[in-house]
Formats: sequence, C-alpha cells, structure tokens
Amino acid sequence: MRGDITEADVDVVVNAANPGLLGGGGVDGAIHAAGGPAILEECRAVKARLPGGLLPRGQAVATTAGRLPARWVVHTAGPVWSAGEDRSATLRSCYTESLREADRLGARTVAFPAISAGIYGWPLDDAARQAVAGVRAAGPLEHVRHVRFVLFDDRALAAFEAALAG
Ligand code: APR
Repeated sequence: MRGDITEADVDVVVNAANPGLLGGGGVDGAIHAAGGPAILEECRAVKARLPGGLLPRGQAVATTAGRLPARWVVHTAGPVWSAGEDRSATLRSCYTESLREADRLGARTVAFPAISAGIYGWPLDDAARQAVAGVRAAGPLEHVRHVRFVLFDDRALAAFEAALAG
C-alpha cells in the first residue's frame, strides 16, 4: 500500500536504519521524529550491547515504538547498493531477520518500507524483488500473520506490485 509507515497500525514497524542505530534521514528520520525520544533511548541501550556498537547489515533488533501506533520498531540495516558486488542476500536477510525478530516478540502484523531503496541507492525494481523474496524466505512463523509493504510514492508502489505479481 501507499502511505507513511509511521502511521501504520500494525504491531511492528520495520525501520531502514544504519549500523550506528542513532537515527538518520529518510524513513529512519521519520520514525524517530514521529515516535519520539523513547526510541532513540532504547536504540542507545541496544547499541551498547552490540559488538563494536554496530548492528551488522542484514540483522535486526527491536525497540519500543514510542508514540507510534505500533508496539515495536524493528531496526535493520540494509546494504548500500554496489554495481560491482552482489549484496542481494544481505538485503533479503533484512526482511527475513526482521520477521524472525517480530515473531519472537509475538507480533501478528508487520509493516516494511522499501529497505535500501532510498539513500542507500538500491534500484527500486530489484529492491522490491528482494523484499518479496526475503519475506517469502522467512522460516515458519508462529505469530506473524500479515506482512505489508508501505511505500512512500507511486513509483515504489508500482515496483512492489510488479514484484508481488511476478
Ligand atoms: N514511510 C514509508 N516509506 C518511507 C518514508 C515513510 N515515512 N520515508 C521514506 N520512505 C521510503 C523512501 O522513499 C525509500 O523508498 O523508504 C525507502 C527507504 O529509503 P531510506 O529511508 O533512504 O532508507 P535506505 O535507502 O535504506 O537508507 C538508509 O538512510 O535514513 C538513513 O539512517 C538511515 O543511514 C540510513 C540510510
């Protein structure tokens, strides 16, 4: 669906973060702005427990969602697009690992943005294909029943509709 993921009425909103976990622009900035300081406070606590204080790309960690309608934010760090290196497995892992973490929390509904398709420069059509593949590759989930892609513009929406129809 087209929309602003900070308004998604789901259990888990997935954030396209960076390994530093201290916020940024794009959807990361929007989630922190709408969710308020509680999210950043928990990001700091999670960061302190990570080796070197960095979230490895393709992995996912959870925090409170603060003032968002959602209960949790699952932060994942996508790969930066590279024409010379195939990082698509890492991008798929963002979706698979975020779903694993959401399921561990007991979430039933999860909303994803188009991870890596903005500042990280991933071509939209392939970002959509990797997103769909990553969700479909998720292991058996005990709680998650509904996954939605929340896309910020019509181009992204069209790319995901094409990927889902493929
Ligand atoms: N709701 C849904 N989607 C959004 C929103 C929003 N409020 N704001 C932006 N987007 C979309 C963008 O249009 C893009 O399609 O999210 C997608 C991902 O773009 P980015 O947010 O730029 O994320 P990414 O490409 O993964 O880059 C991550 O950017 O914001 C920083 O801290 C972040 O360093 C990290 C990098």
